[in-house]
Amino acid sequence: MNKNVLIRLGGISKSYDGEVVLDNIDLTIHDKEFITLLGPSGCGKTTTLRIIGGFETPDAGDVYFEDKRINDLPPYKRQVNTVFQRYALFPHLNVFDNVAFGLRVNKTPDAEIREKVKEMLELVNLKGFERRKVNTLSGGQQQRVAIARALVNRPKVLLLDEPLAALDYKLRKDMQVELKNIQHKTGITFIFVTHDQEEALSMSDTVVVMSKGKIQQIGTPTDIYNEPVNAFVADFIGESNILDGVMPEDVKVKFAGQTFVCVDGGFDKNEPVDVVIRPEDVDVVKPEAGMLVGLVTGVTFKGDYYEIIVDVKGFKWMLETSDFVGEGETIGLSIDPDAIHVMKKSEYSGLFGDYSSFSDELDKLSDATEEVEAE
Ligand SMILES: Nc1ncnc2c1ncn2[C@@H]1O[C@H](COP(=O)(O)OP(=O)(O)O)[C@@H](O)[C@H]1O
Ligand SMILES: [Mg+2]
Repeated sequence: MNKNVLIRLGGISKSYDGEVVLDNIDLTIHDKEFITLLGPSGCGKTTTLRIIGGFETPDAGDVYFEDKRINDLPPYKRQVNTVFQRYALFPHLNVFDNVAFGLRVNKTPDAEIREKVKEMLELVNLKGFERRKVNTLSGGQQQRVAIARALVNRPKVLLLDEPLAALDYKLRKDMQVELKNIQHKTGITFIFVTHDQEEALSMSDTVVVMSKGKIQQIGTPTDIYNEPVNAFVADFIGESNILDGVMPEDVKVKFAGQTFVCVDGGFDKNEPVDVVIRPEDVDVVKPEAGMLVGLVTGVTFKGDYYEIIVDVKGFKWMLETSDFVGEGETIGLSIDPDAIHVMKKSEYSGLFGDYSSFSDELDKLSDATEEVEAE
């Protein structure tokens, strides 16, 4: 990744009707970066994007583009284009005319328009669709037209606000790969917004995790997954067991009534901490070989592994195992030092319980609700 800074947000704050929506946002975006704003519905992702696009003015703070302050630059003078979740295509125009629209507004010569539109339709795999009316296209095809239209002017930056949220699962997966390819081929900086953590992890160079108008963490997908800074990030990204702990000294941590060796340090003596352990990082062993012992209370077959819920002294862990274990079985848990991630206490400590009320169905239900809210 090229490390040239393209956009910088410095101390951006924004309120609506006295309600703080963005609280002192600092963010640096690099040339050719695929950067994703990730967080639950209402955390301020769209507002951040609209401030970058120039559709919204911050109450405080500055927006820089290539080191020039652009707070007062109107949207059409910024080298930025947007793809919205609702594609906002012209339904009465055909594919060619939709993509050509911006070029015609700029009075581009006809021959050049033909060439550029052709190139863009090839890029988004819609060669041969020039004469089709957009309202005869599938959702996925319409989304491609919207992307072609946004890219035809060769902006330096493309803003994408939940562009795949309306597509069904399989198509969404395909479009994720395609978007990545398009970004590679064009070398355009993508600022992508989603509330879907899996999407963010699989597509991005950099993930920006947001909650309640604040940036919680900025990092590569692996950083964010392996080294979450607080309980919010640990809970939002992937599945995690988050336990109350204490650090008696460096590389020792106490939780679940035991002392474990870990790899973290730099805390005060006996500092209370949050401990996160991922379901796939615990080994299921015989009870006599376990560092902890628990009772299996739920088993779900996931294809290549089982997801099990295990009650250890009243705290319900989620674990993954490739060997079958039955409900009602007593098992041992073995945890390597590097499977334990110790975090500072934060305002999010204690908000995320164990898996006692967990069911796959509930999880899917809450995902679906988020998607509806995001629209
Ligand atoms: N134009 C507006 N007027 C009033 N409130 C708004 C406006 N735009 C956004 N909000 C509020 O700001 C908060 C953040 O919104 P938004 O940036 O759209 O979040 P996200 O995209 O992460 O879901 C929400 O509570 C939303 O209701
Ligand atoms: Mg939004």
